Amino acid sequence: VLLQEAAALRVARSDAEVLLTHALGCQRTTLRAFPEREVDAGEAAQARSWLQRRANGEPVAYIVGQREFWSLPLRVAPATLIPRPDTESLVELALSPRLAPPATARAASLPAVVDLGTGTGAIALALAAERPQWAITATDTDASALAVAESNVRRLAQGNITLCQGDWWAACAGQRFDLAVSNPPYLAADDPHLTAGDLRFEPRRALVSGTDGLDAIRTIALGAATHLKPGAWLAVEHGCEQGEQVRAVFMAAGLTAVFTVTDLAARERVTAGCWEG
Ligand SMILES: C[S@@+](CC[C@H](N)C(=O)[O-])C[C@H]1O[C@@H](n2cnc3c(N)ncnc32)[C@H](O)[C@@H]1O
Repeated sequence: VLLQEAAALRVARSDAEVLLTHALGCQRTTLRAFPEREVDAGEAAQARSWLQRRANGEPVAYIVGQREFWSLPLRVAPATLIPRPDTESLVELALSPRLAPPATARAASLPAVVDLGTGTGAIALALAAERPQWAITATDTDASALAVAESNVRRLAQGNITLCQGDWWAACAGQRFDLAVSNPPYLAADDPHLTAGDLRFEPRRALVSGTDGLDAIRTIALGAATHLKPGAWLAVEHGCEQGEQVRAVFMAAGLTAVFTVTDLAARERVTAGCWEG
């Protein structure tokens, strides 16, 4: 009955299944195998309220308070961006032999890695899961976002993550890193996507960066000189039509060997550059 009500509300079947599994505390396979299962009145009321919220456009991840990233069940809240599968390309590049600091490098200390604008902590937690020997600093300007990241770090961190609040590099003043990654806001202030879909509900500070969308990337690239060790890499996610501009920003900031990787749909999504020192 609840699935029929979801269809009547025009909630997509896949979204309805996620909402119902959370509201009813069951697996998707249970929903499918036992569609006639009786549920208690409290669970049914919760499910109906969530289906209505989804019908009003609210993102599923905010309704259930969770989204999976890199196989980690992250807590999300309206103060944070909802982590996207696209960002896993940035994690893959950061872990690749070309960019990743070897565990044995600079043996006196652990490789130091920073995730600028961490939101839920998605990138930092994915890197920590794969490289528990890295000393990872995760920053954000927003205290509410950092509180969400902190709860994810407490529940999920397998490595060594330090959270710092501040404006981009100012959060880690005086420190130099072996690798820096960021998925910064990169939409232009008048981007029409801001008025559609999930983006309507996400914090503007997580999405928009100046009139051309590149203010944050300019600041991050310019900070490479004072915050990266010689030979360290900076990698940022960006819009699929910003590759050429981001490469120009990186080169103007003195980064070398600049290159862009494409996602599975052959769109330019992540640019990296090396600080030679
Ligand atoms: C696109 S979201 C990315 C969140 C997360 N890294 C992810 O990939 O899901 C950008 C993040 O940058 C943060 N941010 C915006 N302006 C900032 C600033 N001036 N300094 C540091 N972080 C900032 C936002 O609060 C937001 O969490």
